[in-house]
Amino acid sequence: MKRNHPADARAVVVTGAASGIGRALARHLAERGCPIALADKDEAGLAETAHALPTPTLVEVVDVRDAGQMHDFASKVRAWAPRDLWACFNNAGVAVNNTVASGDPADDQWLHDINFHGVVNGTRAFLPHLLEQGSGAVVNTSSVYGLLGVPLHSAYCASKFAVRGFTEALHQELIGTGVRAVTVHPGGVKTSIAHNARVSPDALTDGETSQERARAFDAAAITTPERAARTIVRAVERGRSRVLVGPDAVLIDALARVTPTHAAGLVGRLEKRLSGSTTSAVGA
Ligand SMILES: NC(=O)c1ccc[n+]([C@@H]2O[C@H](COP(=O)([O-])OP(=O)(O)OC[C@H]3O[C@@H](n4cnc5c(N)ncnc54)[C@H](O)[C@@H]3O)[C@@H](O)[C@H]2O)c1
Repeated sequence: MKRNHPADARAVVVTGAASGIGRALARHLAERGCPIALADKDEAGLAETAHALPTPTLVEVVDVRDAGQMHDFASKVRAWAPRDLWACFNNAGVAVNNTVASGDPADDQWLHDINFHGVVNGTRAFLPHLLEQGSGAVVNTSSVYGLLGVPLHSAYCASKFAVRGFTEALHQELIGTGVRAVTVHPGGVKTSIAHNARVSPDALTDGETSQERARAFDAAAITTPERAARTIVRAVERGRSRVLVGPDAVLIDALARVTPTHAAGLVGRLEKRLSGSTTSAVGA
């Protein structure tokens, strides 16, 4: 397998850098000496991430849904980056819990615009720079829900399957260019994602509140953002085009291959026993 360049001291771009996995990626890569361009819509969270980073940073409030904003950000990165770009992590994402029958289509659209079009916008904005260099990686965050369809997450699953399809197609297109496309499939990672989710009443059972649902997610998510960041960076360095993050992701990937029609039911039953809740704690 062809190895990518090591991350050390090369510049990187991280979207969704104000929280969770994005913040952990920024910290981990800064410790490795990488100058970091951070983007998020959350200005206060971005400032908190940037505060203690030991390397040069470019901090931009960007809504990944807006292709124009992403292109402006990419131009600023080009002018700023002190060194070659090692990777662009298109990581920003949100969650929605609802049923297909009763959920608000506006919530689904909001999610799709961020989770899928945000990734497309980031890819299109930074790809010319990477192709010009003839090196580097576009690293797009899908989920284990890009491997498996699960109830109450239809829009999330659809967006993450879309990220996977888009990135796998890009990976093939880029062969021979020196640039890579990498799809990341995290399992449950203890971040703010469930707390920021739009939860529709039809997705709550037995008098459960959305806060209780988020707390159950926290209790059952088994991977820390720091561990997730290390796994992702190591995999990109090793030249992988597909990254499973966490033991639950490895299990779900195996189940989805061995028994694709039963995998979602098996995972649901397993989680119920582990968390004592109907909340799913893999893949947000
Ligand atoms: N936490 C998990 O269990 C899990 C599992 C699988 C996949 N993921 C994916 O990992 C990625 C990171 O999520 P996280 O768990 O760190 O969640 P998080 O909520 O901690 O961080 C997500 C970040 O994205 C930012 N964001 C949201 N909308 C944005 C927009 N329009 N423009 C710019 N930034 C925006 C938020 O402000 C936040 O800082 C997401 O794509 C998520 O779907 C997470």
